[in-house]
Amino acid sequence: MIPSAVGLAAPCKFVSIEAELRANGISVEDQFLPAVQVRGLADCAQLRRVRGEFTAARVGAERGLRRREEIRGDNICWIGAPLYPAEQALLDELEGLRLELNRAALLGLFDLELHYAWYPPGAGYARHVDQPRGRLQRQVSLVLYLNQDWQPAAGGELRIFDARGGQRDVEPIAGRMVCFLTPGREHAVLPTQRERLSISGWFRARQS
Ligand code: OGA
Ligand code: MN
Repeated sequence: MIPSAVGLAAPCKFVSIEAELRANGISVEDQFLPAVQVRGLADCAQLRRVRGEFTAARVGAERGLRRREEIRGDNICWIGAPLYPAEQALLDELEGLRLELNRAALLGLFDLELHYAWYPPGAGYARHVDQPRGRLQRQVSLVLYLNQDWQPAAGGELRIFDARGGQRDVEPIAGRMVCFLTPGREHAVLPTQRERLSISGWFRARQS
């Protein structure tokens, strides 16, 4: 290999995520980040919780936003400046993924919105799509799980539906990253028996 090309090669996890998205519209990648970095992000979430930065998630759009715990029981915290180092490292990583997706699929993704989501025991998120009606900016949904020692008995799976009536359940284990093409993709979070922590994000395209 020519030495100057080494730095240009995308890490293979980005290449495999892109290939899975293109083939199936969904990618599940374990150990997306090293364990120490996943723990670092869980610590950041805890610091932000202590600082009172989490708020009850609401459903609806703009002026119609409401708390409806029977639909969505999580608490969220948008990840914005000032960032902790672990958060900056995650953003840097996701920037690499964004560039790879654009390079390979010409999706025209230009930015990222990202929040922590913390589900208390008993909470879930009913079947939904991640796109407010009539808006198409969100193109790729990402979820990175931060739950150490997750047990199947705890529930809390991400359930992803397909158009043929099928479904696939994914456990929210630490370091696992799920990506899917956002438009029209219905999914739900099944009720969790224990606290469940994740980072949800969306790569967005410019509104056309
Ligand atoms: C969301 C969402 C899935 C998950 O935040 O919109 O669907 O598994 N999250 O946390
Ligand atoms: Mn969702």
